[in-house]
Amino acid sequence: MGSKVTIATLREKVAKGEKITMLTGYDYPLGLAEEKAGVDIILVGDSLGMTVLGYDSTLPVRMDTMIDHAQAVRRAAPNAYLVGDMPYLSYQVSIEQAIANAGRFMKEAACDAVKLEGGRNVVDVVKALTKATIPVMGHIGLTPQSIAMLGGFKSQGRNLEAAENLINDAKALEEAGAVALLLEAMPPEVGKIITQRAGIPVIGIGAGPYTHGQLLIVHDMLGFFDAFTPKFVKKYANLNEIIAKALSEYVADVKSGSFPASEHCYKMQPGEAEALLKKYGLE
Ligand code: KIV
Repeated sequence: MGSKVTIATLREKVAKGEKITMLTGYDYPLGLAEEKAGVDIILVGDSLGMTVLGYDSTLPVRMDTMIDHAQAVRRAAPNAYLVGDMPYLSYQVSIEQAIANAGRFMKEAACDAVKLEGGRNVVDVVKALTKATIPVMGHIGLTPQSIAMLGGFKSQGRNLEAAENLINDAKALEEAGAVALLLEAMPPEVGKIITQRAGIPVIGIGAGPYTHGQLLIVHDMLGFFDAFTPKFVKKYANLNEIIAKALSEYVADVKSGSFPASEHCYKMQPGEAEALLKKYGLE
């Protein structure tokens, strides 16, 4: 059994120049596999709205749903640094609601931190959560909860002004007390500048190779979600293909009668099966 990953572990990795590994995780079986593989940070992302629940955005995801999934992952992965993703409108309505909702991740799912989307527009929330002893991971760049504002799932920071906005957002989040930052879908140069200027661990998803660590959506990298695949995804498996093959073989086996075979059947006591069949006229 490994040892518990804490914010101190993540800071040590940064200090030693060791890369931090992070994946999303949504349920018990994936949590077990990620813990076994030694993933440092598991994000129970509201992307589960799309990858697991089949919505076309993350906006419909409810707080209660996030708690159920975070609890399942924590049961599977006691050592990972577990981050609960604050769903849409769980932290924007009021500071009180933000603290109450973020607190649920800590109290009910034993999360180590919460993540929320936004830059200078959310520093008040980050400050309030930090004051309430709830560690926050900031998330800037492509922020999927703002697709209606961004005009879709679009990479960010691709001109000088947009890049400098991200650099300033990152600084503001750190100054507000964020314990870590997540950069999504931006050029590597922007990721490099933010990382070099940061005094906290910086993880990238589609932000190039210079961040302290890397995140991928686990269903993307396993080939288990293919409604669309962002440019930054590397596929390590094709689960959809494997599953489709297994399911169609099962359907064919049941139809042909080759499943179940005798090895899948329970045996009666010696001689009893014959006696039973004889009694019912089915020899
Ligand atoms: O919900 C999620 O998985 C995320 C990632 C896209 C960063 O926020």
